Order: sequence, then C-alpha cells, then structure tokens
Amino acid sequence: MSKYDFTTILDRRGRDAYAVDGVGLQRWGTEPAPPQDGYDFIPMWVADMNFPTCPSVTEAIMDRVKHPAFGYFSAPDKYFDAIINWRQGRESGCGQDLEREPGRGQEQGIASGSGQDTDKDSPAACAHTAHPYLKREHIGYENGVHGFITSAVRVLTKPGDSILLHSPNYVGFRGDTLGQGRECVYSPLRMDEDGIWRMDLDDMAGRIEKHNISLMIFCSPQNPSGRVWERWELEAMMDMLESHHVTVICDEIWADLVFPGYVHTPLQDVSTYARDHVLAAYAPSKTFNIAGLVGSYHIIYNDELREKITREGDLTNYNEMNVLSMHALIGGYSKTGREWLGELNQTLEGNAEFAVEFIRRNLPGVTVSMPQGTYMMWLDLKNYMDRTGRTLDEVIHSGWRYGIGWQDGRFFEGGTNIRLNLASPRSRIEEAFNRMKLCM
Ligand SMILES: Cc1ncc(COP(=O)(O)O)c(C=O)c1O
Repeated sequence: MSKYDFTTILDRRGRDAYAVDGVGLQRWGTEPAPPQDGYDFIPMWVADMNFPTCPSVTEAIMDRVKHPAFGYFSAPDKYFDAIINWRQGRESGCGQDLEREPGRGQEQGIASGSGQDTDKDSPAACAHTAHPYLKREHIGYENGVHGFITSAVRVLTKPGDSILLHSPNYVGFRGDTLGQGRECVYSPLRMDEDGIWRMDLDDMAGRIEKHNISLMIFCSPQNPSGRVWERWELEAMMDMLESHHVTVICDEIWADLVFPGYVHTPLQDVSTYARDHVLAAYAPSKTFNIAGLVGSYHIIYNDELREKITREGDLTNYNEMNVLSMHALIGGYSKTGREWLGELNQTLEGNAEFAVEFIRRNLPGVTVSMPQGTYMMWLDLKNYMDRTGRTLDEVIHSGWRYGIGWQDGRFFEGGTNIRLNLASPRSRIEEAFNRMKLCM
C-alpha cells in the first residue's frame, strides 16, 4: 500500500502547466496538436510529472509563506546541509540502505512487440555510497541546469569549438551549445545484445581526435534512454577522456530517479581525474516535480574551475536564488522526501514495466529497452515503419489525434524514434497505450 498519492489524476489545465496548456501552440515547435473530439489529452511530452509533489515540499513553502516578508536573502547553512545530506544518501531512490543486487539491469533488456511472454523481473535492492569530500564551498546555486550548462560552455570553449555529446540526447543541449555558436559532435549510443544502451568508447575517442575536442556534455542517468550508467562504464569513459585531456559537464538532474536496485554513481566519484575535471549539475526539479520553481546547483571540486564558473554566473546578475524555491529544496531533501521518492521510483518502474510488456504483446515492430531510471521511454519504430510503410510523422500525428501527447524523437537526435513521458498515474498510462493500439 502506498503512503503517498500516485494515483489521483491531476487536472492541470489553466494551472501553469505547459504540458497541457502548450498543446497546439507553436512556441518551441515540439508541441503536440490537440486531440479529435471524444479524446482527452494525456501529457507524455514535457519532462515534468502529472503527480502532486511530495507533501514536505508544499509544507516547507507554506510555512515560509506564513511569514509575510520576502526581501533579499542569502542561503543559510540548512540549504547547503540539506544538499550535502541528500547527496550522501542519493542512492535513496529506493529509500533504504540495502546491498545492491549485482548485475541488476543485465537481465532487463530489449523488448520488441512480438506477442510472446517473458519472466517478470525479480525484486531488487539499492546501495549506499557516501560523499565524504562534499563540502559547502563546492556547491553553487544555478538558475536552472541550462543556466549552468550555458555558463560552463562559455567558460570552457570558444565559438566554433566542437563539443562531444551522445545521441540520442536531451534536446535542450542544442540551445546550450549550438545556440552559443559551438558545434555538436554526436557519438551514437548502441544497444547491446541484451538490450542495454551502451556508449562506444572507440567511436568517442575517434571523434575527439578528429574534431580536436576538449569538452563533453554527458547526461547521467541518460535522457531519453533511461539508462543508469554503471561505475565500470563511467570509469572506462573517464580513463579514455583523461587520456585525451577532455573536461566534462555532467548533467545529473535525473540522479534521484533511479529504479529500485539500480545505483546512480556520480561521475565525479570514479577517479581523481574525474573529481578535478567534471563539473556536475543537480536539481530537485525532476525529483519533486518543481521545475516551475526554478533552482538547481552545481558541484565543482576544482577551485580554479569553480571560481571561473561562479564569476561567469555572477556577471549577469540573473543567477539569484528564489526564496520559495530554496525552501522547496529543503522540504524535499528530507526524510519524508526520501520516503516519497522511494514510492515514486517504484511507481515509475511499474509504469515502465507495464509499457514494455504492452509493447511486446501489442505493438509488433516497436523496439524498446527497459529503462533503469528517469521517467522517459525511447521507442524505436524502424521495424514498424518498414513493415507498415507509415512515416514517423503519420504515426505521431495519428497519436496526437487520439490524445497521446508523445514527442517526436528527431528533436533528441533520433531518426525513427518517439519519446514518451511515463510520469502519470497508471490508469492514464494504460489508457494511452490502449489508444496506441487504435492509432498504430
Ligand atoms: C537532462 C536534462 N537537463 C536539463 C533539463 C532542464 O533543466 P532546467 O529546467 O533546470 O534548466 C532537463 C529537462 O528535461 C533534462 O532532461
């Protein structure tokens, strides 16, 4: 039995939610069209959740609002302490300190619509890794992860420089790089024979050499594949990057959304070089559904790099914390927040399992790898399109007519892909998948 509410269907219309109010608009160019009569809209595009936030977040804001003055302020110790304590127990995705089940993830691979049955995955645990070296001075406020990435790109590269990324990748990195006159060089992730997304170190190294690259933007856990990188993969990647003198901006905004049994390893933890050459970004926004409050932070251990980034952020005078957002973080990064997050991750995993199973049974030709975290799912329709002769545009638009608010994967450097957001009550996810049978 759940203690927290992940089943109520929130009516977000007219309540400051681009995920529903943005339908049919043309601001980003990625907005779904409105559904035909008889179908309501199920938001599965913008990366926020259709769940109420954790009660301790709302309580912390309400408590602060009771004091009727909102003047200039500076973040108190409890803000930094909350971050340090939370990051120390970050693997708390499952809300308990248990040993990790070795190799979790290997057994959950590719699923492809075929009409066959599979064994259900076994229950899993999670581990505890500590951050003995994280201190207040390593943490700096950032007005959104994008704010941080754009600052860091300016500090670490010049216009015309190439930056390494993976494909598929989060669409927002385009603005942070191309938008500032830098070039993006993509190294494709590849699905192995077990259906696990892997990076290709030889390919990455080749592109680094060819394009004279000194900066990589890395996403961990990965949006849109939902991959939670294992420590050995991160170690191998950092060894390769060290030998090419590459610095990394590591976007760990999804770090808390890791399914039971998986462990998020901070990239900075994997080697001495990583601690000194990785600039990490975190936020409570994805974790607690508070992106509208704005407020993220960096962790940078290298004094020189941190000073440069801080100076760059200060230059604009826009990089200032909002008092309610600060209290929201403190409310979320708490014992209640940890417990709530444990239930959220179970709910998200359940939704992902349902989706994978549904696809396998009902959507022949659609390929998907079981995510290990985030609430994103990355569908590949290549075989489906070959079989039916339908184009990606036709399928996406057909889904929109049935109210399935999914998103074109080409924005995420995919080719034949659709990205799905599964952070909704199960009843809505089931409804969306049942409608897929009608439109595909
Ligand atoms: C990987 C990644 N980074 C950054 C963001 C956005 O971060 P922010 O709202 O803090 O700018 C998102 C939102 O979906 C994301 O998926």
